[in-house]
Amino acid sequence: MRKQIAAANWKMNLEKEKANELVESLISEPVEMKDNHAVILGVPAVYLNDINEKIKNIDDYFVAAQDCSSNNNGAFTGEISCSILASIGVKYAIIGHSERRMYHNESNSLLAEKVDRAFENNIIPIFCCGEPLNIREAGTQNNYVEVQISESLFHLPAEKIKTLVIAYEPIWAIGTGKTATEQQAQEIHKHIRNFIAAKYGNDVAESISILYGGSVKGSNASSIFSQPDVDGGLVGGASLKADEFKEIIKGLK
Ligand code: PGA
Repeated sequence: MRKQIAAANWKMNLEKEKANELVESLISEPVEMKDNHAVILGVPAVYLNDINEKIKNIDDYFVAAQDCSSNNNGAFTGEISCSILASIGVKYAIIGHSERRMYHNESNSLLAEKVDRAFENNIIPIFCCGEPLNIREAGTQNNYVEVQISESLFHLPAEKIKTLVIAYEPIWAIGTGKTATEQQAQEIHKHIRNFIAAKYGNDVAESISILYGGSVKGSNASSIFSQPDVDGGLVGGASLKADEFKEIIKGLK
């Protein structure tokens, strides 16, 4: 069975002491997990090394960068390359989060380059896609997401794309408290899987974990994750509280 993942996206939150407290409470009494479960902590870049050191001996706990550069190493002030991330043991990178698309004008073609840099350095992309409210209201979300996925991912060979993680995050549900219904999530996750299957075949599509993101909480995680094509979640606000995030981990199927 493909991996079921509880991924945290701390975004630009938590100063050092609070960050350490949160990690300590997650790992001091870790939630019991099944073999195909994983927890991924998308933490601010300055904490990646420390937190990775704390969790690296705990089975199925990983850190993720929240972004990476589309360039290799060199004269790119302020950027962090995938080879630098890999050199401190980072295994995952969130790529194409809607906040980066929005505030940093990240385009589908730039994201394709970031995905390539990640794979070149054995980092698994957690590739984000999802539509804004006006697209959902117009009912054209499937097509919108197809373009994001095909333009950023469909240059990949099957053996690479089958290892990545996709996070479907409708922008109207991010940080708004408004969650997609289980049916809405299942419908578009299934659509994404079918779209990938049409290009790469069923085996590839079935092996990709597709996470739902957008106001996932302890109280709604298990019902959303119970949908057959929802393989866990990418969680912002609710990942900043240990008890809440533990409930979300418990919600994995
Ligand atoms: P949220 O954020 O859980 O706070 O809605 C999700 C995300 O942006 O990844």
